Amino acid sequence: MSGKTYYITTPIYYPSDKLHIGHSYTTVAADTMARYKRLQGYDVKFLTGTDEHGQKIQRVAEDKGLEPKAYTSQIVGWIKELWKKMDISYDTFIRTTDKQHIETVQKIFKQLYDQGDIYKSTYEGWYCTPCETFFTERQLQDGLCPDCHRDVEKVKEESYFFKLSKYQDRLIQHIEDHPEFIQPQSRQNEMLNNFLRPGLEDLCVSRTSFKWGVPVSFDEGHVVYVWIDALSNYISALGYLTDQDADFKKYWPANVHLVGKEIVRFHTIIWPAILMALDLPLPKQVFGHGWLVIDGGKMSKSKGNVVDPKVLVERYGSDAVRYFLMREVAFGQDGNFTNDALIQRINSDLANDLGNLVSRTISMIEKYFSGQLPVNRRGTEFDQDLQQIATKTVYKVEDAMEQLFFSDALVSIWQLISRTNKYIDETQPWLLAKDHRNDDMLANVMYHLAETLRIISILIEPFMPRTPKLIREQLCISEPKIVSWESTKLWGRLPQNLSVKRGINMFPRIDLEKEREILEEIQEKNKQKQLASQEKQQEKKQVQKDEKTTVAEDTPYIGIEDFSKVELRIGEVIQCEKVEGADKLLKSQIKIGDEVRQIVSGIAKHYSPEEMIGKKVIVVTNLKPVKLRGVLSEGMILAASDQEGNLVLASTDQDIASGAQVK
Ligand code: MSP
Repeated sequence: MSGKTYYITTPIYYPSDKLHIGHSYTTVAADTMARYKRLQGYDVKFLTGTDEHGQKIQRVAEDKGLEPKAYTSQIVGWIKELWKKMDISYDTFIRTTDKQHIETVQKIFKQLYDQGDIYKSTYEGWYCTPCETFFTERQLQDGLCPDCHRDVEKVKEESYFFKLSKYQDRLIQHIEDHPEFIQPQSRQNEMLNNFLRPGLEDLCVSRTSFKWGVPVSFDEGHVVYVWIDALSNYISALGYLTDQDADFKKYWPANVHLVGKEIVRFHTIIWPAILMALDLPLPKQVFGHGWLVIDGGKMSKSKGNVVDPKVLVERYGSDAVRYFLMREVAFGQDGNFTNDALIQRINSDLANDLGNLVSRTISMIEKYFSGQLPVNRRGTEFDQDLQQIATKTVYKVEDAMEQLFFSDALVSIWQLISRTNKYIDETQPWLLAKDHRNDDMLANVMYHLAETLRIISILIEPFMPRTPKLIREQLCISEPKIVSWESTKLWGRLPQNLSVKRGINMFPRIDLEKEREILEEIQEKNKQKQLASQEKQQEKKQVQKDEKTTVAEDTPYIGIEDFSKVELRIGEVIQCEKVEGADKLLKSQIKIGDEVRQIVSGIAKHYSPEEMIGKKVIVVTNLKPVKLRGVLSEGMILAASDQEGNLVLASTDQDIASGAQVK
């Protein structure tokens, strides 16, 4: 080991059974980089894992009738299996439910609180559950989440806040002083202009309305807001704040955090601010890559293309899928994903260019020299150009890799492959073979082809971990010093007395038409499966609901203190209308004392809007506001219903002023 270290991370994934090929993108890129650095002699730490806390996961688990940890464990098993299939060579897999991680997050939170960087206050604003993100009124777009454009919930709760605003100037300074910190450049501008320069607000860092999270150690009822929990994984995984922190000392700061573009903000503003507060060095770089999209929109399993990474890897092999991910789209930009594009790349780049070069070379050596190359050689006029291009390619690849331009690196390697194929056309071995007086020249041509293949097998290794082995088995080479990264820089490392052995066809051509049909069938089956599982889930939910109703008798009594938490008041309906697109819902404006509230109730089958106006009703006034069908409801009207489905509004025996308390 050279003593040089390299620490690379992927984001930790939300455990979900909806993972698609887009999710594999960051991980394949990180793995490619980790393998590249290992080849260069670095002591590499490659971290990935799962982000298991938060309201969203709690809700999904509940829907499935599982404890959150039981649910996430199932998915973690699935994810690990996928990474194995895709040859992801991570060194550490962290789960945010790991004991060590939880303890470290608690220590970090406490330390920040003790030193005054975290303080207690009340949060009032909007929350997007799918994104686990808080927004101010100003940040919403048309009342919706600015990131995912879904409904947001109004929340008001006692919370801890992190003094993010305190770090604004230092963050701007750091970004300006370290232009390499946020890459690509466009994302750096976005962070500075859209977030940092307009001003940072302090960040809400705890929640009380759900339990599935890291508990705040000194305040029961609060859990640490998921992003603080999640981001800390990059140091908790190294043993930070534990007595086994050798990895932390060795690998921190990270060389690069690879992240998708939508989470660059968390990684380049919140995370560095936390690190500054902890007095720790910042990661050297955060690289925000683009998205794989389908028809310009978000990728999903139901969009007419097979995007299940397992299916793709099983059909085409991990090397082909990895190659496609790194080649097709320039890292940093968005790119369209289609099954057709994947198949076409396999056919043209892998089967035609690389596969053919290997099989032609091996079969010519077998045919012309019975698999054993003689040592006597005579050069051709085309040799020098090929030699030069071969030994120069590695520098181009190194240059591209240092900037994480994976696609450029592959383009350079494929230029070498094309050049080598052209060398065959130039030297025309089949003509040389016609006359034994040309044997020395023919042997030389074969050696050039084999030697270039040796170099290519090394250059592609970070991208395609399996193919190099298959090439080298055919060239009968394995000696470490002739397959090392450095050995690509010197021509002629292949033994002079080379023998070869034909192997399997590494990349058989795919019949596009037939394959399309097969993929359509797979897609159809998936749809059916999805429908069946949705139905099953609905049934399961219904059973759970029924069970809850039947066990109601066992429900423990509540004390008067619990009952008195419910605030009931008399309200008068002053306006009422139907909720568009919802045949059960009415939206009423209800005067409660001096205040008017909007309440949505499921009573439209029993009362018309006209009937409601003027009615005095009993309202639960301290229910948390929710949105029903996108309409805000700030309370609940009480009603009685029987088993026949009759429903009547609850009211008082005699008239009483609106606003009166019901006790
Ligand atoms: N849990 C957070 C990350 C916390 S890191 C401290 C998260 N998880 S995620 O599962 O939603 O996303 C993981 C990674 O997958 C992100 O980098 C995200 O950008 C990436 N991708 C998800 N869909 C993608 C595409 N369609 N294309 C490319 N990458 C995509 O965010």
